[in-house]
Amino acid sequence: MTTPVTWTKRWTFILAAAGSAVGLGNIWKFPYIAGENGGGAFIAVYLLCILAIGIPTMMAEAMLGKAGRANPIVAIRKLSLNDGKSNAWSWLGGLGIVTGIMIIMFYSVVGGWALDYVAQSATGAYANANPELTKANFAALLDSKTTQIIGHTLFILLNVVVIGFGVRRGIGIASEILMPLLILILLVLVGYAAVNGDIQGALAFMFNVDFSALSGEAIIVAMGHAFFTLSIGMGSIMVYGAYMPENACVGRSVLTIAAMDTAIALLAGLAIYPLVLGNGLEPGAGPGLMFETLPLAFGNMPGGLIFGTAFFLLISIAALTSAISLLEPAVAWMEQLCIKRWISTSIIGVIAWVGGLASIYSSDVFNFLDYATANIMLPLGGFIIAIFAGWVLRRVTVRKHLSSISMTTFNTWYIAIRFLAPIGIIVVFINGILGA
Ligand code: PHE
Repeated sequence: MTTPVTWTKRWTFILAAAGSAVGLGNIWKFPYIAGENGGGAFIAVYLLCILAIGIPTMMAEAMLGKAGRANPIVAIRKLSLNDGKSNAWSWLGGLGIVTGIMIIMFYSVVGGWALDYVAQSATGAYANANPELTKANFAALLDSKTTQIIGHTLFILLNVVVIGFGVRRGIGIASEILMPLLILILLVLVGYAAVNGDIQGALAFMFNVDFSALSGEAIIVAMGHAFFTLSIGMGSIMVYGAYMPENACVGRSVLTIAAMDTAIALLAGLAIYPLVLGNGLEPGAGPGLMFETLPLAFGNMPGGLIFGTAFFLLISIAALTSAISLLEPAVAWMEQLCIKRWISTSIIGVIAWVGGLASIYSSDVFNFLDYATANIMLPLGGFIIAIFAGWVLRRVTVRKHLSSISMTTFNTWYIAIRFLAPIGIIVVFINGILGA
């Protein structure tokens, strides 16, 4: 049973879902929002949300896709009707489509920054860098609308080509090689940062937990990021779940992906904060954090030109595999309307491109899209998924589609999806709104 086809099938979901989960969220976003929100306590809440809300919701989402065997709208409709429930639940798919397109409108801008840094690295733009130079480089990029537009356009084009040609399988298989490489370079960076930066300070920053310093707002951001980084709450994981072979284990796959995703985010933090603290930079520097600090390492380490170029290339590819999954629900939906793949992909590409221009010209638009999607729309989508899987579908239906996990695991998950996840989401929201 080791023919390549069987093997690919067994791994399709893990590869695709890991490709979706691991992206800019882990390496670009996590370190800067954790930095802005004070470090340790924020990271503790983020980890708690991954465990208590993220993993159960991701299992539910993958299960719904696997059970419905179609794009989110059709899958949910099918499952509702089978259990004699209203097909209005399929609006969840509509929410996911809108959320995905809104995310891509700022995500592709950052993808464009990463592409620009591939070029900067390859041409030695930050050789022997010091903090002044790396800050100036990033500021120059933000100032040059043209450079940002080129990067963003290129990023959208890459998406359209990959989705239009339908070569996602190729990308999935490529990620199998690229992901370990990315982890390897991150480890080299962590090693470099440990020797040349302030590792003690970084460990204290990341793991000293002082909940008293944590605002209600920070808790919302931590939960929102748990959704964002796992790609849950909008149908990406559901779409990929539909590719799962009948006998694949949802539970084990989801745990593997969540563990990998979390490990990569923490490694990114361990690479970035020692450099930040060792060079007198600010952890709360905002979206430029990764771009202002990692070049300090690449610019000064032996072989940095090659490492830096490879790193930003790998980040760009990781961003691409995430972006593809953001567009997937929309493409799948249009496909169902019998619109040709090329045409639907191009239409969505143009919409995303225009939105990206708005994000380039206005940081308010950029911030709004980021905030509204990660902190409101994804948790809302996750809430509906939890209610649908935990309360709307019949228990026997759900159990049938999660049959490969043990009864104890199932019961634990069932409690988590019925109570822990939805109540957790509500509590975090109320807490944030009351400004506690
Ligand atoms: N998880 C991706 C990242 O961390 C972003 C993403 C969010 C992808 C939601 C799909 C759905 O970069």
